[in-house]
Amino acid sequence: RNVAVIFGGASQEHDVSVVSAQQLMDAADARAINVIPVYMDFENRLFTGPRLRDVSAFRPRPGGLREVRFNWGDEGPELLGKGLRLPVDCALPVFHGPFGEDGRIHGMLELIGVPVTGFSASGSAIAMRKDATKTLVKSVGVNVLDSVAVNRHQRGNMGAVLDEVEAKLGLPVVVKPANLGSSIGVGLAKTRADIPALLEYVLRQDDLALIEPQVPNLVEYNIAMMWRGGEVVFSAIEQPKSGAELLDFREKYLSSGGTKGALPSEGMLSLTREINPDLPADLKARILDYSRRAFLILGARGAPRIDFMCNRATGELWFNEINPIPGSYGFFLWEAAEVPLLYPELIAHLVDEAMG
Ligand code: DAL
Ligand code: MG
Repeated sequence: RNVAVIFGGASQEHDVSVVSAQQLMDAADARAINVIPVYMDFENRLFTGPRLRDVSAFRPRPGGLREVRFNWGDEGPELLGKGLRLPVDCALPVFHGPFGEDGRIHGMLELIGVPVTGFSASGSAIAMRKDATKTLVKSVGVNVLDSVAVNRHQRGNMGAVLDEVEAKLGLPVVVKPANLGSSIGVGLAKTRADIPALLEYVLRQDDLALIEPQVPNLVEYNIAMMWRGGEVVFSAIEQPKSGAELLDFREKYLSSGGTKGALPSEGMLSLTREINPDLPADLKARILDYSRRAFLILGARGAPRIDFMCNRATGELWFNEINPIPGSYGFFLWEAAEVPLLYPELIAHLVDEAMG
């Protein structure tokens, strides 16, 4: 089968996407899937060619993010606008964040009739907006944190925003982009006076900011799931490890692994985590129950990963977000599942489901 693996994109999670895609393409080889790499650059141009299989071809660009920088010659025909057609049976997007994981690519492929793995365009769009996702999953009995969403227009009336935050959420609060992942732009406001600057920062990167109460004694649990054999099946549970109050982008990606100056994507691979932590039975049951409900209402396709927040002291659990295309496609979670699923099988499942 000819499978176009599409990755890159103009998102701040571009680097993570490049690494996720390389891992996935290597694993797909083991299933004799004919991988056709398709790279989207920061200007939304699509390229293909064998050099895209080589991670060293991706050079850092000013500002730290990576993109392909070389003379394409005959190896890198630009796809769109040049009329080049690719013979593909299926497309497998490996984007993280806006401009790819958010349904735009899925919508384009759905329109031209190419089977595409994972969430539908609309499911992806809802999943990208953390506030919309929370509203939807709450409607089916999943516990979520209260939040206040703030758009750019509301900056002109900051007093009202701050009043609402204090009345509804109290302090301290976490301010974060509603659409970005990988903890980009997440900040902690201990006082009311801290909030405006954090909002400014977030709204420079995203149209919408989300303010939520800070969870005391925070511990996070992540789990992936898929629809298989007529039921929802789960991966192992992952507990990311952090010494700080919350994982910010720098800590999540740059401080782990001890590689000074490592790119985010490289740091991410060595993020410290515990797989299959020893959890009280009722907590584990709630994680599975919330995951099943959320997955079913959000479309029940692909192999997304849901991230939860938990108060270690009280055992309270909140759905935080769903990643339709998790970093590394969550393969290590599947390989550690009760019934292990190796990465090549995970990819074959995604393709079968899309083409089925
Ligand atoms: N958005 C990143 C890649 C993740 O959650 O895995
Ligand atoms: Mg995320």
